[in-house]
Amino acid sequence: MNKLLPMIFRNAMAEIGRLLMYEASRDWLPMVTGEIQSPMGVASVEFIDPREPVAVIPILRAGLALAEHASSILPATKTYHLGISRDEETLQPTIYLNKLPDTFPEGSRVFVVDPMLATGGTIVASLQLIKERGVENQQIKVISAVAAPPALQKLSEKFPGLHVYTGIIDPTVNDKGFIIPGLGDAGDRSFG
Ligand code: PRP
Repeated sequence: MNKLLPMIFRNAMAEIGRLLMYEASRDWLPMVTGEIQSPMGVASVEFIDPREPVAVIPILRAGLALAEHASSILPATKTYHLGISRDEETLQPTIYLNKLPDTFPEGSRVFVVDPMLATGGTIVASLQLIKERGVENQQIKVISAVAAPPALQKLSEKFPGLHVYTGIIDPTVNDKGFIIPGLGDAGDRSFG
């Protein structure tokens, strides 16, 4: 295999993630106005309020690649890692790492970042953990590169009011749990 392929795939994921997070942030995060001193004078500016709590939650492993440029869009975020792996036979998710806080600060806005929403088991397990910690559906945005109907159906039934930002909605999921046509295994393609 070409040794550069994981790097090329990761870079593409990072760029899709950056674009989707920009769109997801628009008109959603609290803004403040202030003044900055330019070399030629004082300018009035509007910017995201850095005092308001914003969380980014990458779902390991593949979510790390999609969240790579989150801090260039939102410099004042906190990152909380969630490691979830899907069993290749049963397709059931297992949580192997949970760095979520016991409770999210009041008024938190939360970005959950996972490139693939296939059967939906992983994203549903993630959102249940997040919601148990005091976050409402309207405070959460899911960022994904490719989403499939089974996952989107589950999300709309279980989490009404939740917003999903995705690069594309592909038609189906096969019996091995892969999105068709999809992009294959995003974790393996990102990290080898
Ligand atoms: C993949 C993918 C999602 C999940 C989607 O992760 O990155 O997290 O499967 O599947 P689902 O919607 O059917 O639950 P995987 O478990 O392969 O882990 P990885 O990111 O470490 O490769």
